[in-house]
Amino acid sequence: MESIKDKIKKLKKEKNALILAHYYQDIEIQDIADFVGDSFELAKKAKQAKENIIVFCGVHFMAEGAKILNPEKTVILPVKEAGCPMADMASAEDVIVLKEQYPDAAVVTYVNSTADVKAVSDICCTSSSALKVVGSLPNKQIIFVPDENLGQYVAKQIKDKEVITFKGYCPVHKRVTVQDVEEVREELPDALMLVHPECTPEVLDKSDFIGSTSQIIKKALESESKNIIIGTEVGVVEYLKKKDPNKNYYLLSPKMTCINMKKTSLKDVLSALKNSEYEINLEKEAIGKAYNSLNRMMNV
Ligand code: 13P
Ligand code: SF4
Repeated sequence: MESIKDKIKKLKKEKNALILAHYYQDIEIQDIADFVGDSFELAKKAKQAKENIIVFCGVHFMAEGAKILNPEKTVILPVKEAGCPMADMASAEDVIVLKEQYPDAAVVTYVNSTADVKAVSDICCTSSSALKVVGSLPNKQIIFVPDENLGQYVAKQIKDKEVITFKGYCPVHKRVTVQDVEEVREELPDALMLVHPECTPEVLDKSDFIGSTSQIIKKALESESKNIIIGTEVGVVEYLKKKDPNKNYYLLSPKMTCINMKKTSLKDVLSALKNSEYEINLEKEAIGKAYNSLNRMMNV
């Protein structure tokens, strides 16, 4: 009998579709994807896509970003409810209020945000490009939305800027505590600890390396260490176990599962291909303004 994975592969070819998946997706979704990456790499792939359809296995802001960068394509998010709570924390109105308060500041918006927020921003960034993006701007003051932890991390690294942060956060990374770090350190004193900048400053201070999902993966694969603690979503641990099974990978905290990223199943991907659901639709005007912020980031 034809397996669900075979059905997906066949239909994908017939429909001329590209399947993109974030590293936080379940490993079976990563297996059927044409490309697996972090949010920056996926945005780049989406922008360059030649296929008619992009099936985005991730969360809503990622699929929306793909539509903004490549509006002629049909972009599908297999599970309508797969959102990112952080992206919904800041509104365009919040940004406009901050702009009025700090008229000389440039607005740098983390891609984990809605199209409306991107549309009122000067430039976007991902966790892998945040330092480069902020460093490239002539403005002394930077309004950074929505992730407070990433904004504070940037402020600490780029000392000649005044970074005004917003109170957004990722529930998955924020719930990791210093106690979690100390417990793992005690158990694995020689392990290398790699963490995502969405974690709190106290956790970042106790780590060995801070980086985006892809930067963490690269570091883990290149490192001489046999024992590696991963301070980001569990999907990265699953990816690494498959990629290089000769090392031991440990999740920094058992709380690091993004329930939204885990909503997509193989059945959903098959149904997305069959029924073209759920299509991302955006007003032309919203695409135009948000495109400028996203595209500016791609060019930095
Ligand atoms: P990356 O930019 O590292 O892919 O992270 C995306 C994300 O949602 C982190 O929680
Ligand atoms: Fe959003 Fe956090 Fe999930 Fe990333 S891990 S998609 S920031 S909730």
